[in-house]
Amino acid sequence: MKQSEIVIDAIKGRRSVRSFEEKRVDREIIEEILQAGRYAPSAENRQPWRFIVITNKEMMDDLSRLIKNEIKKLIKHRFIKGFSIKELKEEDTLKFLYAVAYSEKDVIFYNAPVLIFIVTENRLFNDESCACCAENMMIAAHALGLGSCWIGFASILGLNKEIKKKVGIPEGHHISAALVFGYPKTKKQRIAPRKSGLDILKWID
Ligand SMILES: Cc1cc2nc3c(=O)[nH]c(=O)nc-3n(C[C@H](O)[C@H](O)[C@H](O)COP(=O)(O)O)c2cc1C
Repeated sequence: MKQSEIVIDAIKGRRSVRSFEEKRVDREIIEEILQAGRYAPSAENRQPWRFIVITNKEMMDDLSRLIKNEIKKLIKHRFIKGFSIKELKEEDTLKFLYAVAYSEKDVIFYNAPVLIFIVTENRLFNDESCACCAENMMIAAHALGLGSCWIGFASILGLNKEIKKKVGIPEGHHISAALVFGYPKTKKQRIAPRKSGLDILKWID
């Protein structure tokens, strides 16, 4: 296989994984994933990311509970300071959030053994740079035989000062991306449907 094919295969083969084996991930593997993140492009090469790696199950269960509580507040008030979802008016979204908030299971982090917060300061293009970093990490994880998932729900945590302190998010920083990693339970992942090229592509020759 040519190197280009290997890279493109890894990009196309990555799937969001939501079911993990109860197997710890070695620190060296986590470090390799972080290293791939650090090679992402960033505006002005500012490399605006900082990483918080959590492998402590108790802490993750705690955070999962806190997120569910924040979602409950969101459902009740349709708004949390600095965070509103216009889709909350849609019944399907409300039903989905309700199911997540009141589930007994860890439907936030899916019992993954590793959670990584990418945190950054509020500055132009910092979040875009962190998203590049996150994608690098997820592709690297896939290449190393691990599964990953971006947990958008976790960004809610960054709005609560107490939680920010608990996790150690530095002053003036927010969660730009939260990613979980672990060994996937199922090897073959269903491919999420992709929009047809015709719908999303315009050529100007
Ligand atoms: C910004 C962002 C937020 C996401 N948040 C969540 C989430 O909270 N929970 C979840 O299970 N998946 C989440 N995902 C994963 C998407 O659902 C997933 O990428 C999409 O369905 C396409 O599937 P694929 O990653 O397998 O290609 C998120 C993805 C992105 C990029």
